Amino acid sequence: MATPSRPSPYQPSLLRLLHGASAALLTLAWLSGLVVYSRQDGRWGRLPWQLAGDWIDIHGTIGVLLWPLALLFGYYALTLGRPRLRHPTNAVALVALALAVGSGKLMQEDWLRQGQLSHPVYAIHLLAWLLIPAVLVAHLVGVIRRGGMPLAASMVSSTLRANDGPRHWPRQLLRPWRLGR
Ligand code: HEM
Repeated sequence: MATPSRPSPYQPSLLRLLHGASAALLTLAWLSGLVVYSRQDGRWGRLPWQLAGDWIDIHGTIGVLLWPLALLFGYYALTLGRPRLRHPTNAVALVALALAVGSGKLMQEDWLRQGQLSHPVYAIHLLAWLLIPAVLVAHLVGVIRRGGMPLAASMVSSTLRANDGPRHWPRQLLRPWRLGR
């Protein structure tokens, strides 16, 4: 007798959008941060090549775009997505994102231009930058251990249920306040 197949996991479209856009911008911020570190700091090594351009500006612009998105994603994760934060590998991903964005917001762009490398906020920002790859690997391992490739793929899938389109998003966002029934 054939065993009944489990339904494929489905992630709400708003979660997929916020999660995907935050992950993409976080990756760009991480990479541009590496270039900034190599050019302006380099105490523990430098990239073997030099890239032209104002990378502090580029990194800052990515940070400015990431900030409101991370705020919205954080809101989603802490309200509608709260049950998923029981999984430590989801929770640490959110903490690393918050640490990176929060400390970045407190950084002043002149610090690195003027060679001021001893600000505690900069140390926290560097720590967040170091944590992100480790946390990302742990997050992906956690997702795959829990639900295999079908769960990982569900976060990047483009499937849309009839009651989960963009016009349902405002109601979904208000649901935690019991305003969006
Ligand atoms: C790059 C940075 C990433 C960050 C900061 C991040 C963060 C998070 C957070 C905070 C959650 C919980 C969301 C909630 O509570 O509603 C989550 C869930 C999830 N993420 Fe990521 N994520 C990242 C990358 C990825 C990647 C590359 C994948 C692979 C496709 C992925 C797959 C998933 C899946 C499948 C879930 C749902 C897991 C579950 O139901 O427990 N994530 N992520």
